[in-house]
Amino acid sequence: MRRCFLEYYVCSVWGFVVFSYQLSVISYQFSVISFPFSRRGVLHTPNYQFSIFNFQFSITNYQLSIRIMADLDDLREGANFGLGVASREQNFHVKGAGNLGWGMKDRLSRIFSPQTGRTVMLAFDHGFIMGPTSGVERVDLNILPLATYADCLMCTRGILQTIIPPVFNKPVCLRSDAGTTILTQLNDNVLMDIEDAIRLNVSAMALMLSIGEPENEAKTVANLFKAADLGSRYGIPIMGVTAVGKDMARDARYFGLASRVCAENGANIVKTYYCDGFEKVVAACPVPIVIAGGKKLPENEALELCYNAINEGAAGVDMGRNVFQSSSPTAMIQAIHAVVHEGLTPQQGYELFNDLA
Ligand code: R5P
Repeated sequence: MRRCFLEYYVCSVWGFVVFSYQLSVISYQFSVISFPFSRRGVLHTPNYQFSIFNFQFSITNYQLSIRIMADLDDLREGANFGLGVASREQNFHVKGAGNLGWGMKDRLSRIFSPQTGRTVMLAFDHGFIMGPTSGVERVDLNILPLATYADCLMCTRGILQTIIPPVFNKPVCLRSDAGTTILTQLNDNVLMDIEDAIRLNVSAMALMLSIGEPENEAKTVANLFKAADLGSRYGIPIMGVTAVGKDMARDARYFGLASRVCAENGANIVKTYYCDGFEKVVAACPVPIVIAGGKKLPENEALELCYNAINEGAAGVDMGRNVFQSSSPTAMIQAIHAVVHEGLTPQQGYELFNDLA
C-alpha cells in the first residue's frame, strides 16, 4: 500500500516536471508566434493554436476561442459524373433572347410560359391617360378578380402600390413612362427612374413609342433607347408599345416599321396591333410581339382576333378593354387564355366563354 503510494507520488512529481517543461516550451512558442503579430512596437500577448478532434482552440490576448472545423472525415467522394453523357444544352423559349443574361431570361420566363412560349397579359394601365374609364373605375373590385387568370399584369406603379397585393406573386410589366393625357397632346412622355422598377421587383418595363408623329417621335424613341440601356444594366426586359400616330395607316407596313424600330432600339418585347399581313410584321421583328386588343369588340370577334394573331406568330396578347369591358370579364379572360395557350379555335373559345359566363 505504502509502495503504491510512493510510486503514485513519484509518477505525479515526474508528470508535473514533464508538464512544466512542456508548458515552458509552449510559452516559448507563444512568444515566437506572437512576435510577428506585434505592431507599432507593442508586443502582443502570446498567440497559440492547436486542434483536438474537430475543435480548433486559439488563444489570443489571453482569450480562448473554440471553433468547430469542417468535418473532412465524412466528405463523400463524387461518383456520379455522367461520363459519356453530353451536357444538356438549353434552348430558350423567348424569341431573340437566347443571348441575354440569366436575370433577363428569368424575368422573361415569368411572363412567357416556358411550356407554350406564350403569354396572356392583362393591361389595366389606361387610367394614366384616360382616368377612370369604363372597367377600371375600381381596380380593386373589377380587376383583382381577373388577375388570377392572367400570366402577367400591366399597370402603373400608382395602381400597383395602392391596390395590387404583394402576395399575388404575378409578374408585372410596369407602365414606365408618363406625361400627357387624352385632354392634351398624347405621348409627350418622360421615362421613370429604373430604381423604382427594381424596388417594385417588376418583370418588365413598358413605354410608348409615337412612331410617325413629328412632335413626339424622337422623344419617345429616346425614352426607349435610354430604358434599354438601363434594362440591360439591371436585367429588366423592356417592352416597346407602338402608339398609332393620328395620320398613320393601321397596316402591316406601319406596324412592321414601328415594331422593328422598337426592337432595333433595344426592346425585348413589342406590343402592337393585329392587322392584315401580320405575319410579315412578326417575321421582321426579332423579338416577341404581343397584341393590344384595342376598342371593345363583341366577344366572338375579340377571340377571333386573338386566334388569328397567335396563328400568325404573335407570342401572346396584352389586352385590356376587351377583357374588363366584357359582359363577363372572368369568363372572357379564361377563354382568351385557352385560345392563346391551348390552341382553341375562336368558336371553341366562344363556347367556353358562354359556358363560364
Ligand atoms: C396603351 O398604351 C395601353 O398600354 C393599353 O393598356 C393597351 O393599349 C392595351 O389595352 P387595350 O387592349 O384596351 O387596347
